[in-house]
Amino acid sequence: MRQSLVVGNWKMNGTRSSSELLAKSIITGLGSSSANIAVCVPYVYLFAINELIKNTPLALGAQNVADKLSGAYTGEISAVMLGEFNCKYALVGHSERRSYYGDTNESVAARFCQAQGEAIIPILCIGETLEQREQDKTFAVIDAQLSAVISLAGIEAFSKAVVAYEPVWAIGTGKTATDDEAQEVHHYIRQYVAAKDQAIADRIQILYGGSVKPNNAGGLFAMPDIDGGLIGGASLDAESFLKIYHSI
Ligand code: 13P
Repeated sequence: MRQSLVVGNWKMNGTRSSSELLAKSIITGLGSSSANIAVCVPYVYLFAINELIKNTPLALGAQNVADKLSGAYTGEISAVMLGEFNCKYALVGHSERRSYYGDTNESVAARFCQAQGEAIIPILCIGETLEQREQDKTFAVIDAQLSAVISLAGIEAFSKAVVAYEPVWAIGTGKTATDDEAQEVHHYIRQYVAAKDQAIADRIQILYGGSVKPNNAGGLFAMPDIDGGLIGGASLDAESFLKIYHSI
């Protein structure tokens, strides 16, 4: 049985005080759910949020990690640095990184390996654009995004990773994939992994992301291959985020 996981991606939002307030409100509303929960916060708030969530079920994540170990890479943050702030997770390959900042399948694979080198669980974000979907290229895109990581890290590395399927056309647009559309791709991802290692495929958490809201989360999370969500906009409001979390 796979554990469920709900992750908030705060992206480049908030201030230190609003972030602290948000984290505190989330902790207060956690209740006794056994599902896992985490927030991926801007780098500069890792310290403050880590202080607040110590000894609570809320885990911490970063929104990216460098593809190199250390050195002359101005502006980058290494996995070692993230480890110092108790980051349990790091997003890698978010579509906003791929489209605005030039992350490639290869650099995403390197980031994935750097995170795992520090025992940080990479949340590998994959998904197709609207144009790719309309051209029936969804599965080809998913294949390329997964295979780049598998060739560098090996399939065994997926025993300590999370995959997030985020169709680019559903991110921040209010347009969610239907439960069946999402399930179809999640099933495809699990089968892709299963072809290489059935046990890992059975265990790996595959999250859905893209306009998940309190009113659609329950349907998505009920699908057999959807193990939770990666939540953007709705994770900035404690009440919405908690409703999504509690609907799992
Ligand atoms: P939205 O939930 O705002 O669509 O964002 C999804 C996302 O990009 C999470 O990483």
